[in-house]
Amino acid sequence: MKVLMVCLGNICRSPLAQGILEHMCKEKGLQWEVDSAGTSAYHIGEKPDTRSIDIAQLNGIDISRQQARQVVKEDLNRYDLILAMDQSNFRNLLKLSNSSNEQKIKLMLSYGKRENLEVPDPYYVNGFDIVFDMINEACEALVNEYQLAS
Ligand code: 4NP
Repeated sequence: MKVLMVCLGNICRSPLAQGILEHMCKEKGLQWEVDSAGTSAYHIGEKPDTRSIDIAQLNGIDISRQQARQVVKEDLNRYDLILAMDQSNFRNLLKLSNSSNEQKIKLMLSYGKRENLEVPDPYYVNGFDIVFDMINEACEALVNEYQLAS
C-alpha cells in the first residue's frame, strides 16, 4: 500500500499524518510506503512547523527530519491512495488528476467516525492537539480497513 498525505503547505497537517501512519505501520509490521506533500509551493524544503513537531513528540513520534515538497502529477499515478486534509486540497488534487487516477483521491476524514469533515488548517489558529487526534483516529480506521490487503 502506498499512501500520500496532502495539505496546503506540507508543514503542519500532512507531516503529522505521515508520521502517525508510519508509526502505526511500524507497530503493526506493515510494509506500507507513506509520504506527504503540499498543494502549494510556499514552504518547499522546510522542516515541519515546530508546533507539529512538538505535538508529534509528545505522542512519541519524531517528524523533525521531514522536508516539505509540492505534489506533482506523477504522485497521482505512483500512490494507491492520496488523502486530502480539506476540501480545498481535495479540489486542487482533482485538477491534477485524470480519469485513471481521480478515484484514488479521498478526504483524510472519509476514514473514521468524523466522516467527511475536514482537518482544519491550524497554521494561524492553533489547535494542533485536536488536529493530531483527528488524524490519528482516521489513520486507525484506514489501517483497519487495508491491513489485510497490503
Ligand atoms: P498545512 O498548514 O497546510 O497544514 O501545512 C499551512 C501551512 C502554511 C500555510 C497555510 C497552511 N501558509 O499559508 O503559509
